[in-house]
Amino acid sequence: MAKKSLIEKVKLQTISDDCLMCVAEVGKQIPFPIKRVYYMVDSAPNLPRGYHTHKELQQVFFCIRGKMKMILDDGFSREEITLDDPSEGVVLRPMIWHEMHDIDKDTIMLIFASDKYVEDDYIREYATFKRLVDKKATK
Ligand code: TYD
Repeated sequence: MAKKSLIEKVKLQTISDDCLMCVAEVGKQIPFPIKRVYYMVDSAPNLPRGYHTHKELQQVFFCIRGKMKMILDDGFSREEITLDDPSEGVVLRPMIWHEMHDIDKDTIMLIFASDKYVEDDYIREYATFKRLVDKKATK
């Protein structure tokens, strides 16, 4: 059986009149109750972000302006997606290492998260992440 892709896209409802409106609803495109929303603007040029995973947190990432590349990694394979469509998001499940690269100037990232900010939920060292996923895989 083919391995399931790490890239889980969501497509928002769009309404076009004299603007493009994108609508996200919990239970439709967002697969968890939203407890936190954050966004990022004014990214330093040529500076990748992310480089961590979360033990429990789930998130949906959107690039509502500009363009960026996202890498998702489950410890065994890496997949890449370019985000440049405000109506398209990527679901980030727990224990998926992620990196954002090639973030264009003026890019705006919008993120819906399943929980409030908990620093203890982060794993910021790839070797620690890899050890944990390897351990789980051998159980
Ligand atoms: P981080 O999640 O590491 O950002 P990125 O994945 O884009 O590199 O967060 C950067 C810093 O901001 C880090 O010190 C934690 C802090 N932070 C908060 O205090 N609250 C939050 O909700 C988030 C997302 C980050």
